[in-house]
Amino acid sequence: MPASLYTPAAMASSDRFLLAGVMGWPVMHSRSPMLHNYWFRRHELAGTYIPLAIRPEGLAAALRALHPLGFAGCNLTIPHKQQAMSVLDEVDTVARRIGAVSCVVVRPDGSLAGTNNDHYGFIYNVRQAHPDWRADAGPAVVIGAGGGARAVCYGLMEAGARRILVINRSAERAAALAAEFGGPIEALPWAQRHDALEGAALLVNTTSQGMVGQSPLDLRLDRLPLRALVADIVYTPLRTPLLAAAGQRGNRTVDGLGMLLHQARPAWAAWFGIQTEVTAELRAMIEATI
Ligand SMILES: NC(=O)c1ccc[n+]([C@@H]2O[C@H](COP(=O)([O-])OP(=O)(O)OC[C@H]3O[C@@H](n4cnc5c(N)ncnc54)[C@H](OP(=O)(O)O)[C@@H]3O)[C@@H](O)[C@H]2O)c1
Repeated sequence: MPASLYTPAAMASSDRFLLAGVMGWPVMHSRSPMLHNYWFRRHELAGTYIPLAIRPEGLAAALRALHPLGFAGCNLTIPHKQQAMSVLDEVDTVARRIGAVSCVVVRPDGSLAGTNNDHYGFIYNVRQAHPDWRADAGPAVVIGAGGGARAVCYGLMEAGARRILVINRSAERAAALAAEFGGPIEALPWAQRHDALEGAALLVNTTSQGMVGQSPLDLRLDRLPLRALVADIVYTPLRTPLLAAAGQRGNRTVDGLGMLLHQARPAWAAWFGIQTEVTAELRAMIEATI
């Protein structure tokens, strides 16, 4: 635990010690402690954010222990994001729609509320990188239909996207997403992924392809307009083969790290009532670990 969180100034100016954490199994690879503890230091607050290695069978008890232990809340990561829904006292419509809880808030009466902030992370990352970006600039093509895709689609819909083409290797998963979300979402077969890029204003990879240890995403960019923005939610490596190819041909790109950083901001607002910033210093600090 960084000693700087216990500076006399921080302790003297606080009437309580602020606590939050991330529950996962495994969890020690998570960059969340480094990210959140940066904000404790930056805001000179006495508090800490800890990794909590919780086995799936221990999730309910661990969540119930948050209140007596004085936690303001926690984040959830693999494999707890779905299972938590049946434990929490309230799960908001965002988390229900996305089908996963990423953030738990302990309310004053000890009850537990779940939400999902990944959609916020995606949209605010794009906006920070390209402030002139607009969701209604033209069709968005989302490759993938897993948990990340659901958050991206939710964010794009909320931001005003008028047409979102979801293309997934397993057709039934894309069809289910389109049927469930409705509105501007349309599912297309995997075989059409190359041609579907014609006229797109935004391309987002939400598959695990391109991650360290995985094959690059099998996607030809020749039909993609040069004005289109290309985003990848994979952030290991930061410059995925997709982003490298897109950048090389002249498309603007957005990497996935900012999504991780920005999704943490609404958590701080809910847990501690504090507005945080994704600074260049914070980004560089996390980037150095990738
Ligand atoms: N930046 C962030 O904050 C953030 C947030 C969430 C996720 N992510 C990253 O996004 C990636 C996906 O995460 P997730 O939670 O959405 O996982 P997930 O729910 O397991 O979904 C995985 C997706 O990848 C597709 N896929 C897997 N192997 C494939 C292959 N060989 N060819 C084509 N498609 C393939 C799957 O297609 P099928 O349905 O056909 O299997 C599915 O659409 C991970 O790398 C994760 O780290 C980043």
